[in-house]
Amino acid sequence: MEKSLPKSVEQTCHIRTFGCQMNVHDSERMAGLLSSAGYRLVDDPAVASLIVVNTCTVRDKADQKALSDLGRLRLFKKGEGERILAVTGCMAEREQERLHRLMPEIDLVAGPAQVRNILPMVERIRSEKKHLLGRDFDLPEMTTPPALRPAGVTALVTVQEGCDKACSYCVVPRTRGPERSRPVDSIVSEVRGLVTEGFREVTLLGQNVNGYGKGSGIGEGFAALLYALEEVSGLVRIRFTTSHPSDLDDATIEAMARCRKVMPHLHLPVQSGSDRMLSLMERGYTLAQYRERIARLREALPEVSLTTDLIVGFCHESEEDFSLTLEAVSEFRFDGAFCFIYSPRPGTPAYEWTGLPDRPVALDRFRRLENMLSSIVLEKNRSRIGKTEEVLVERVDSESGHFSGRSPGFRSVRGRVEERDLLPDPGQVVKVRIDDCTKAGLAGLME
Ligand code: SAH
Ligand code: SF4
Ligand code: F3S
Repeated sequence: MEKSLPKSVEQTCHIRTFGCQMNVHDSERMAGLLSSAGYRLVDDPAVASLIVVNTCTVRDKADQKALSDLGRLRLFKKGEGERILAVTGCMAEREQERLHRLMPEIDLVAGPAQVRNILPMVERIRSEKKHLLGRDFDLPEMTTPPALRPAGVTALVTVQEGCDKACSYCVVPRTRGPERSRPVDSIVSEVRGLVTEGFREVTLLGQNVNGYGKGSGIGEGFAALLYALEEVSGLVRIRFTTSHPSDLDDATIEAMARCRKVMPHLHLPVQSGSDRMLSLMERGYTLAQYRERIARLREALPEVSLTTDLIVGFCHESEEDFSLTLEAVSEFRFDGAFCFIYSPRPGTPAYEWTGLPDRPVALDRFRRLENMLSSIVLEKNRSRIGKTEEVLVERVDSESGHFSGRSPGFRSVRGRVEERDLLPDPGQVVKVRIDDCTKAGLAGLME
């Protein structure tokens, strides 16, 4: 793996990333592998000998973004025989052949499971001088490639990959494959290394982190991983995403309550407030079951922040179904939410279904839902005014005398100091007395 190239032919690489944090971290892994092989990372694709576009395909818009980006980048291939254009990630997995046909300039199309293979794949393209697909290579082992993260306070750490659920609308199980988990030891040692490098917070990533350890012979569940990471000295905060309501067990809730470093924030996608929709979506729980999990969570962690994902305009969604979603939102009073209009994905069960609400109806529901959420989020942020938040400082702007970071509940906080020389350093946890807010976050004076 540690293969350095002769200095005379310096290799340069430009990586572009679309999609979720998992993709962001996959790009960090590719950057780590490539830089350990002598590649220098560059911001300008025009000077790169390798261009990697790491794609997402969760909704049609994600496909369109990646395709239009590729449409521009393919032009860099003209007259540049040696330059390699690689497409990785979820769209690459789903569209291996079609992408090649669509844009013959593309040299490599490989899905997320092949991220660890980036070096051998690129090497083979250079030597064989032909297009290749990820499936032309054996699947690499679940090792931990050296990630190259931007320096900072908070780092992404993948603990689990893939998804064994079968939500009828979702393409992810087809692009990321079945659930696999990394052993506790390997995660703990990576996190120890991150602390040594100066990181203070980790966000554990998985499509279904609560499925951690399942069926992988690891023998320990997600709660055990949290307890193990709680012991890593120098680590200040632990976060994780995403949880699934059916797999969020009492042991995880208890670990969240008992571990001081595990932050009181849970992202628990509900998707809809209508049992009829939840069943068509094949989510595997009813609203009553979701409500029970939230009650258990809030009993154990009264200050917990709860965020969610919601889909409107799914097949057969009636006004009645949608009003149940609005009711659920007003009942659970989420601290934040991502709302999406359903986007049919080829290859998923729901793709073939009829009964999609008309586009103007879906758009109208989306706007009504966003309005309701905005006012709840603003109200919840207002309720923090007068309180003191412990903020892990991420960025400091000595010119304006401000700093920013996150509260335990994941609210972004902009802090100010009475005197410039009191400005904290990134990585410090400071107390901020909240005196102002918008729906995007809080502001206040450092105590
Ligand atoms: N594994 C995570 C997240 C998967 S994708 C989970 O299950 O929670 C992130 C979000 O995208 C989902 O929670 C869902 O709200 C949304 N999503 C997934 N497929 C979609 C589709 N076809 N159309 C619209 N939104 C979708
Ligand atoms: Fe997709 Fe459902 Fe898996 Fe989440 S749990 S990744 S929504 S199939
Ligand atoms: Fe997109 Fe794949 Fe993430 S489809 S949301 S990049 S898992």
